[in-house]
Amino acid sequence: MTLIDGKAVAATIKAEIAAEVREMIAAGLKRPHLAAILIGHDGGSETYVRNKMLACEACGFHSSLVRFEETVTEAELLDSIRQLNDDPDVDGFIVQLPLPHHINKQRIIEAIDYRKDVDGFHPINVGRMAIGLPCFLSATPRGILELLRRYDIEMSGRKCVVLGRSNIVGKPMSQLMMQKEHGDTTVTVCHSHSRDIAAECRQADILIAAIGKPGFVTADMIKPGAVVIDVGTTRVPDATRKSGYRLSGDVDFDNVAPLCSYISPVPGGVGPMTICMLMLNTLAAARHEYYPSGNS
Ligand code: GUN
Repeated sequence: MTLIDGKAVAATIKAEIAAEVREMIAAGLKRPHLAAILIGHDGGSETYVRNKMLACEACGFHSSLVRFEETVTEAELLDSIRQLNDDPDVDGFIVQLPLPHHINKQRIIEAIDYRKDVDGFHPINVGRMAIGLPCFLSATPRGILELLRRYDIEMSGRKCVVLGRSNIVGKPMSQLMMQKEHGDTTVTVCHSHSRDIAAECRQADILIAAIGKPGFVTADMIKPGAVVIDVGTTRVPDATRKSGYRLSGDVDFDNVAPLCSYISPVPGGVGPMTICMLMLNTLAAARHEYYPSGNS
């Protein structure tokens, strides 16, 4: 069994990005700039955004954070998005999710200029991804693909099961794993209403778990030799930790790992890659890689 070390791969990629940024600066180009909008004080969101800002520093990017209280109005948020859309120094930006209930998430996502949408959540990027056109790919699926590639894991023609159908992970992951240019696998997507999920999982050469249920994937659901990618990051109370919690994946790691050819742990697997892919998307935005003429 090989442990997929996302932390190490992410560190390598960040060093590669930092080297490219140094070259850009030496060539007289502008430093890439990622901005983030953070609303409220949710512990998870605070941590994610802090880690994104630290990753910017490691990559040599300029970063900026726009903060609002939970009581922010949709109009105020839309105004802030308009300012970031119009700011020529900002190459890309994100609005950290989840949003307060009184804010229409879709309206917010669609207000972001798709050419600065480094999360890849705007329908234009989602649609272009679905038909294989150049675009910002959602960071978690892109990070998983990058891990599979860097570990030289054979994908073409194999059977992939994706657990979960979220817009951020399950849907784009299943699309990309199907596409010839990416996974080229035969994909099954399971969700809360799927029948006999265990039997579906046992067919998987590559199993990607993204349902947010700690320990859901148990040893009896694994085909021996399978590749298991754990996307779960649920905070579970743990009195032995200073923080009072620990991160738990969707996979019962101790019992599943011995059966696998490759498995990604939580933490240290997919998580560090996700932030790293946001950095790659920001670099692509700064270079106008996907939308060179300012239009698609
Ligand atoms: N909340 C959880 N994951 C993400 C993400 O990838 N991007 C944003 N903007 N919010 C998130």
